[in-house]
Amino acid sequence: MSKKGFIFDLDGVIVDTAKYHFLAWKKLANEIGIDFSIEQNEQLKGVSRVKSLEKILAWGNKEVSQDKFMELMAKKNTDYLDFIASMKEDEILPDVPKVLNHLIDKNQAIALGSASKNARNILRKVNLIEQFEVIVDGNDVTKAKPDPEVFLNAANSLKIKAKDCIVFEDSVAGVQAANKANMVSIGIGEKDVLHEASYVFKDFTEISVAFIEKLINE
Ligand code: BG6
Ligand code: MG
Repeated sequence: MSKKGFIFDLDGVIVDTAKYHFLAWKKLANEIGIDFSIEQNEQLKGVSRVKSLEKILAWGNKEVSQDKFMELMAKKNTDYLDFIASMKEDEILPDVPKVLNHLIDKNQAIALGSASKNARNILRKVNLIEQFEVIVDGNDVTKAKPDPEVFLNAANSLKIKAKDCIVFEDSVAGVQAANKANMVSIGIGEKDVLHEASYVFKDFTEISVAFIEKLINE
């Protein structure tokens, strides 16, 4: 049996934290007199904390000092940490453990490839940290998605060629990063938003064992 690298994004793929990022950014933006739409929020998914704040300020036509920028980023993260403080296993998205366990059973290589600096903390809270052979997160990369750095690092650490890696992503930026890395991209979410992905599923309940087997063997 062949060995492939399966790389999972975290927020919005493994756990339902995309909504908390949205709420925390929305609160911060409103406090400084900026509003943004659900469509604009799609552009924040998968994007680093720094880049997200840059985008929000640009949408609001606002410039702030470096000190204020740092203060705003810290504020967003404090609010976000409040949202995730009591997070437990019940916030793991449906059928994610089933897919992870199947891949482990089949001796596949599994990595996390996330933009978040809170990734390890969250994986510990939901008791999934042991499932990942490799974790590459926002502390380990210098270039934010859509740059492929995060996924290429993960493949490198797994010692699996990029073309033999499969990425699960809920963000446009992440799908683009996976495509740039020459990996198979699997979008988790809406087809019209994630149309650049090789495959799109609404969530993991739509992903069959037969499909996973196909990914392993093709
Ligand atoms: C990504 C999220 O996974 O991580 C983004 O999709 C978030 O919304 C980014 O901005 C950075 O996360 P954190 O936890 O380091 O602020
Ligand atoms: Mg995500």
